[in-house]
Amino acid sequence: MPKKAYISAVSHYVPEKVLTNFDLEKMVDTSDEWIRTRTGIRERHILEPGKATSDMGAEAVKKLCQNRGIDPMEIDGIIVATVTPDMFFPSTGNLVQEKSGAKNAWSFDIAAACSGFIYSLSVAAQFIVAGTAKKIVVVGADKMSAITNYRDRNTCVLFGDAAGAVLLEPTEDENVGIMDFLLYSDGSGADFLKMKAGGSLYPASLETVANDWHFIYQDGKSVFKFAVTKMAEVSVDILEKNGLQGNDLTLFVPHQANLRIIDAAVKRLGIDYDRVMINIDRYGNTTAATIPLALSEAYLEGRLDIGDLVLFATFGGGFTWASSLLRWGIPKPDGK
Ligand code: ACO
Repeated sequence: MPKKAYISAVSHYVPEKVLTNFDLEKMVDTSDEWIRTRTGIRERHILEPGKATSDMGAEAVKKLCQNRGIDPMEIDGIIVATVTPDMFFPSTGNLVQEKSGAKNAWSFDIAAACSGFIYSLSVAAQFIVAGTAKKIVVVGADKMSAITNYRDRNTCVLFGDAAGAVLLEPTEDENVGIMDFLLYSDGSGADFLKMKAGGSLYPASLETVANDWHFIYQDGKSVFKFAVTKMAEVSVDILEKNGLQGNDLTLFVPHQANLRIIDAAVKRLGIDYDRVMINIDRYGNTTAATIPLALSEAYLEGRLDIGDLVLFATFGGGFTWASSLLRWGIPKPDGK
């Protein structure tokens, strides 16, 4: 059997502080009812001042190693998916490596907005299949509160902070492992969802700060139209490509940006809601963290067993969109 990569451990980290829809009602002209019915979100978690994306990522990596029963020194590589790096350089991967004690790991970041986790998983899997690494950690982590304008009701209700991580290792077991990826991008979508300043085009200046260009800008309606179509399409396409149908899935783990976007994909897949992992109500959109966070919670709830078919799908800034299909390889947690 050819070698495959499989997810051998999963973990997440969520900051303690909770920002509810009712808290937001006091900050901008919005309502709990509007946010719940338009997005499905009730609350989100916010990281404390003085802490950054790498702190959440490192906590997730430490838990991941505990869950797998390994020393961080055994990790060969760390890939961090994020759009909110602690700073431009060094990479957040480098900082996570240091803070988690993974002294033997190479590390770098991948920026693909909400598709960052699946993109990073695809890169990590190729190292494993090629045989050039045996243990790679993929972290999806974002401190969205750092780039959210809490005076803009269009965006501030949507986002939250979190990190999730998976460990990839090789397997020759044909019933287990990552089977396929579909990755897409369309740069003509760049203007609909972006953080305009702080890069080489508009370095930080008094003007960029005064214009709020260091915050997320989103043309929600335009993004919604693309997201609703593309996330459903990429979910169905990967199943068809592999000769499978929605009902073959044990669990669909979609990116959590808006419950209505998830609904559209679920309808296209023709599956029941008990096969869909949804936690957007408690965390909002945590960008690169949504899929590993949802996966980690699903695993802890006992919703996954060896050999189960799992689908990841996402859509995000860029535009980027992607899916991945895999067979689960970790036994249920004790007592589940
Ligand atoms: N509270 C109350 N009213 C609001 C709020 C709010 N928080 N936000 C917007 N509104 C108003 C708008 O001003 C507008 O009022 P108007 O008609 O008087 O102009 C009205 O509500 C409707 O606004 P829409 O933008 O049409 O609302 P919509 O139903 O499209 O929902 C949303 C907006 C939730 C942003 C939706 O468009 C969406 O989810 N878009 C896609 C998000 C996404 O998937 N992003 C990609 C991933 S993110 C990433 O990659 C980092």
